[in-house]
Amino acid sequence: MKSDLLNLSEEQRGIRDLAREFAMQEIAPFISEWDESAHFEPSLVKKMGDLGFLGMLLPEEFDGLGVDTSTYLIALEEIAVVDASAAVMMSVHNSLPTQMILRFGSDEQKLRFLKPMARGELLGAFALSEPEAGSDAASLTTQAVRDGDDWILNGTKSWVTSGNHAGVILAMARTDTPSERKGARGIGTFIVTPDMPGFHVGKKEDKLGLRSSPTVQLSFDNLRVPNANLLGQPQMGFVYAMQSLENGRLGIAAQAIGIARAALEAATAYAAERHQFDKPIREFQAIQFKLADMATRVAASRALLHAAAHAKDRGENVKQATSMAKLFASETAMFCTNQAVQIFGGYGYVKDYPVERLFRDAKVTEIYEGTSEIQRIVIAREQYSHE
Ligand code: CAA
Repeated sequence: MKSDLLNLSEEQRGIRDLAREFAMQEIAPFISEWDESAHFEPSLVKKMGDLGFLGMLLPEEFDGLGVDTSTYLIALEEIAVVDASAAVMMSVHNSLPTQMILRFGSDEQKLRFLKPMARGELLGAFALSEPEAGSDAASLTTQAVRDGDDWILNGTKSWVTSGNHAGVILAMARTDTPSERKGARGIGTFIVTPDMPGFHVGKKEDKLGLRSSPTVQLSFDNLRVPNANLLGQPQMGFVYAMQSLENGRLGIAAQAIGIARAALEAATAYAAERHQFDKPIREFQAIQFKLADMATRVAASRALLHAAAHAKDRGENVKQATSMAKLFASETAMFCTNQAVQIFGGYGYVKDYPVERLFRDAKVTEIYEGTSEIQRIVIAREQYSHE
């Protein structure tokens, strides 16, 4: 009996099975081809929207499913087991832009954007990082200057997941002035749409993994954004981004667990069928210990993730818990995919089996939405912040 330690409700099992069925039918048959050619399949967005996967955390009044955080993460893990690229698109959309508008947006912004986002008619993206502002996100330099009823934005955003297919981009820009810099408290968040004059999609990154999820630069060249598209207070954009990244990091943890689980499942099956020295390799303790460590880390990651999700839904401070979940799950993804390649041996190093792609896909979970080093900083700071 395999242990996942989750006692799923009937509703959760239904959503998990729907996600699994969708991913197996609509993504699995094309995965190698899309990975090879770095192809993003736009029709997935509408299909996922139709099934409710792009409005999972939105209330029903905005055409969302209104499920709790755990249920959302269960669906996300299921998609990630099949395709980590589709999972990151789903994670960014649900955890960042939709949640930011729901939490900090005006009634008018919610009415304008949330329903089409939930239905998959508008894909969401999140633009915080810049070429010179990664881990030190508050050092971003994209400038917003007020001009009558508008803001004029100039600057370049980097590493924007789905940025070339997005209909709504939540972009952070400085609202303080060059003569009076206010650090993290001098940044606003703007709801940018690609039809705004001055919006340009720049370089599309040629990535090691997650190749069917596009990652692009965006440049704003005198981009004119109506003040009606400013989210909340003009100096609070960084705080909104950090609060939202708590959701984001839970999503990436679920994605990482999906990748790790896929590696575990593939390695378990292979170890049963591969014979060496006249017996299946799973009869060797060297292989058993690897599978045991992989299974234990997947279960521990999942337990940590769902404990953080429940605490979040109870309204507790989850800054530390979300970073712990993301840190542990992403290192589990790297550990499990590395072990899986080792169990497959030479066959793990070539594209005939899926573990080579899983190994490549896993790495970025230790980098984006805050590197493992940044997660450790957040965890440590929280550890002594209450002294
Ligand atoms: N909730 C509420 N407020 C928060 C917060 C949170 N989780 N985190 C920070 N803040 C507040 C702080 O309280 C502080 O407020 P005051 O001004 O009142 O003191 C303010 O924000 C500034 O915070 P810090 O002093 O902690 O800021 P810092 O400059 O030291 O940076 C950091 C902190 C943790 C290093 C942060 O910069 C960080 O998380 N860096 C990583 C950035 C990141 O994750 N980027 C991912 C981009 S998205 C992506 O990957 C692409 C994609 O599409 C997937």
